[in-house]
Amino acid sequence: MVVRWAAPLLPRVIGHRGAAAAAPENTLPSLREAKRQGAGGVEFDAKLTADGVPVLFHDETLDRTTNGRGPVARTRLLDIRRLDAGLWFGPEWRRTPVPLLEDALKLVVELDLDVNVEIKPCPGREVETAQQVVRVIGQVWPRERKPPLLSSFAPGSLLAARLAAPELPRGLLLWDDPEGWASQARELACVSVHCAEQYLTAGWAAEIKRAGYALAVYTVNDPVRARVLTGWGADAIITDRPDVVAGAI
Ligand code: G3P
Ligand code: MG
Repeated sequence: MVVRWAAPLLPRVIGHRGAAAAAPENTLPSLREAKRQGAGGVEFDAKLTADGVPVLFHDETLDRTTNGRGPVARTRLLDIRRLDAGLWFGPEWRRTPVPLLEDALKLVVELDLDVNVEIKPCPGREVETAQQVVRVIGQVWPRERKPPLLSSFAPGSLLAARLAAPELPRGLLLWDDPEGWASQARELACVSVHCAEQYLTAGWAAEIKRAGYALAVYTVNDPVRARVLTGWGADAIITDRPDVVAGAI
């Protein structure tokens, strides 16, 4: 394998959904805020609109983070783009739109950040979501740049990503410690494992590192905890508060 990037796979501090404690999650201002706070990279969630366009969005429904209602998977891009994804977070964020994945990636390049694109399919859309994410990356991501790291809780999405773009690195996202995580990571040829801080133990972290994976831990907003986790071998901390964590590790 030709190593083209001197930088490690994962930056130490990755802003979660941008900088979700300070700006509305999964929006362009949130990505800018992560940069301002000193993150080396950003994580965000990519999901498809009804008409199959990847946008940044976490939930299956519009209700919590926009002024819209109903499932994202049943809303067309045109209608999603009319929504306000900032007002729920505070009046100063009024009229912040739901971004296209394409625009988010272009901004990440402009800000010179690393990126972890979490493929977050609505149920039943695992394959097409991965395919569309990979397609957009192929269209906008500069070839000479360290590629986006794709992660997902959905093995079907990681497999589809592997088939569509084997050259893009993949990370297996886990919640608790499931039996068989190691064989899953191996079969999907993942380079990293992304664990929930609530469930990670020192022993499990050591096992992940021994197996040769980079280790990312989410969502860590407490600087003391971030230091403990890096002591266990975590390569990256995914945080809503990049400023606080960057000062601690
Ligand atoms: O990628 C880490 C983290 O974002 C996974 O959980 O629910 O915040 O997308 P969630
Ligand atoms: Mg996420």
